Amino acid sequence: MPISDDSSNGYEAIASVYLAQRGTRPAIGDAIGAGIVRVWSQAFAPGATVLDLGSGPGEPGTRILQEAGLATFAIDASPTMVAAFRTRFPDVPIEHSTVEASDFFGRQFDGVLAWGLLFLLTPAAQRLVIEKVARALHPHGRFLFTAPRQPLHWVDAMTGRPSQSLGAPAYERLLRAAGLTWVDAAYDEGENHYFVVEKQ
Ligand SMILES: C[S@@+](CC[C@H](N)C(=O)[O-])C[C@H]1O[C@@H](n2cnc3c(N)ncnc32)[C@H](O)[C@@H]1O
Repeated sequence: MPISDDSSNGYEAIASVYLAQRGTRPAIGDAIGAGIVRVWSQAFAPGATVLDLGSGPGEPGTRILQEAGLATFAIDASPTMVAAFRTRFPDVPIEHSTVEASDFFGRQFDGVLAWGLLFLLTPAAQRLVIEKVARALHPHGRFLFTAPRQPLHWVDAMTGRPSQSLGAPAYERLLRAAGLTWVDAAYDEGENHYFVVEKQ
């Protein structure tokens, strides 16, 4: 597929490799980040609504949210990832769209998860997505996303595409301007840094 046709930031081209690795873990609990997402998900009331942004095949993110008894929704820009998700979670609504273009199901959520997504986007798109997440959250809703704490440019090991963390001070400013508060941080076994965020 020509790069210009790919709205998944390179993930459609390597989807089969990704699915064979992170997408088919025999035990969800041993996937990188699973423990942090599980703890985060267990703080919601049963039946709370949570959106998995850039869900990929839904393993482990949506799987963990479902196991916590939450009502889940998902969005991903890669058609192969969306097809894999639908096979695994036929009853979970997933939109095939970019997060930039999606209207997030035209509804609000108690939580939004974005594992491995934000830093794939341009700085302008990252700001847009933070603003959209803020609008899509109910009061006291919660947002969990991964991005390095330091401002950083690097090449995504799987796709060869550029990635960019804006860094904690810039994320904190964007979050605050959107009405969100960065309340905690965590690192998983893969050394991914998590921003734990709440809406006032
Ligand atoms: C690193 S993978 C993470 C997948 C999943 N969250 C996980 O925990 O394994 C990034 C995912 O984001 C999707 N993606 C990339 N750019 C996107 C965009 N602009 N809008 C929606 N999804 C996007 C890719 O298709 C891919 O499934």
